[in-house]
Amino acid sequence: MCEDATLAKVVSFLESFSLSLETLRDISTRLTKNMIQGLGRHTHHKASVKMLPTFVRATPDGTEEGDFLALDLGGTNFRVFHVRVQQDERNVLKMDSEICAIPREIMTGTGEQLFDHIAACLGTFLESQGLKDQVLPLGFTFSFPCEQKEIDKSILIRWTKGFNCSGVEGRDVVQLLKEAVHRRGDYELGFVAMVNDTVGTLMNCGYKNQSCEIGMIIGTGTNACYMEEMCNVQRVEGEGGRMCINTEWGGFGDDGSLRDVQTEFDLEVDRSSINPGVHIFEKMISGMYMGEIVRLLLVKMTKDQLLFSAQVSAQLQTKDAFLTKFISEIEEEGTGEENTKRILSDLGLQWGAADLRAVRTVCDVVSSRSARLCAAALAAIANRIRTNRGLDHFKTTVGVDGTVYKKHPNFSEELRAVVRDLAPCCTLDFRVSEDGSVKGAAMVTAVAQRIAAQSHLIDDSDDDDDEPRDV
Ligand code: GLC
Repeated sequence: MCEDATLAKVVSFLESFSLSLETLRDISTRLTKNMIQGLGRHTHHKASVKMLPTFVRATPDGTEEGDFLALDLGGTNFRVFHVRVQQDERNVLKMDSEICAIPREIMTGTGEQLFDHIAACLGTFLESQGLKDQVLPLGFTFSFPCEQKEIDKSILIRWTKGFNCSGVEGRDVVQLLKEAVHRRGDYELGFVAMVNDTVGTLMNCGYKNQSCEIGMIIGTGTNACYMEEMCNVQRVEGEGGRMCINTEWGGFGDDGSLRDVQTEFDLEVDRSSINPGVHIFEKMISGMYMGEIVRLLLVKMTKDQLLFSAQVSAQLQTKDAFLTKFISEIEEEGTGEENTKRILSDLGLQWGAADLRAVRTVCDVVSSRSARLCAAALAAIANRIRTNRGLDHFKTTVGVDGTVYKKHPNFSEELRAVVRDLAPCCTLDFRVSEDGSVKGAAMVTAVAQRIAAQSHLIDDSDDDDDEPRDV
């Protein structure tokens, strides 16, 4: 078959991945409806987009300072940080950090094993930093859906992104961490604040830039948070001001509402995951799954005689063998073709010139769909804030983090272009911050501690106060 004819067949094969602006607009409207359902007092329990109150109501006022520990669980790695909040420069400095691997057997073992592992990594870090005798406050960036009761009480609703430790769902994560530290007995923790990575990213961005009102992650998983009017947060008492809502938009579609845009490959990725039926939107978009979607496509196309002379290698048949980072490498301007040759050879495939072009097209189509779907979701949030405030035009900053957004050569550009189309009355300025979610968690901890200290000064006797504690 001549090269052009092959490419034409490849393109038509990929048709189910292309989403028109009209479809994206419709998806955006569906998400808005789901968000409203998630906020409702009587509808939230059955909503697939959870819209979780975070008890973060304000961005920092600049008076916060001090040394903090920060933990980050839920991305590519587990990380431990020592950070310093500097009042004078409105700055969060990373003093030191360490990455600890979480072995696969711990990711799917018992909760006790997981928290013992975390406490052990933290212990080793404190030892190496000479901090073991200090009782430092800790910000815990825990990037899973949690029902937050207070800033220091957070019940895991369910695991996502490849984690599945028994005995943690339905439990307070702060308590599990404290119990693990207590079991060791060689160091102590101060105040612990629980923060989702989107919220940390928003708070870090908001510390420097008061107009930052949306936090977004597109990495191993995907999610966003934003400042919602308290009068719409029906599950929390109080009408005035705003509260940061963790949307958990990864769960969009768990009620079947994206069935018409899911391809057979999305269905397969979901079916073979450790949590079928959960986080459908995330499985169409994020770094944990995008490579696998490409792999399934390549296998099917090879079997249909469109690629690699119909010869599938054993490696290509192996689940998760095609890493999401390959997509970025293949689409890279300039080096893309050389990267493609190396990646395909490493996967044991015999390729020709037509295969190189076809594989690049497959990667393009999958990553572009991801960017467009994210844009539809982000547009839903921007349009909602604008409507909430009755504005003709709304301008804000979006704090962003995540490997897919940061590493893919044209993901961010496509996302921004599509948001402009879908939210024409909103101007969004995007700010990426290194370690933003972790620095933001330290900020939240600093604010919570300041408020706790202030209320302690006002009323010393109020030790067993049952009121939810806000930031
Ligand atoms: C998953 C988690 C969510 C997190 C996101 C990005 O969707 O459920 O809490 O924010 O991944 O890490």
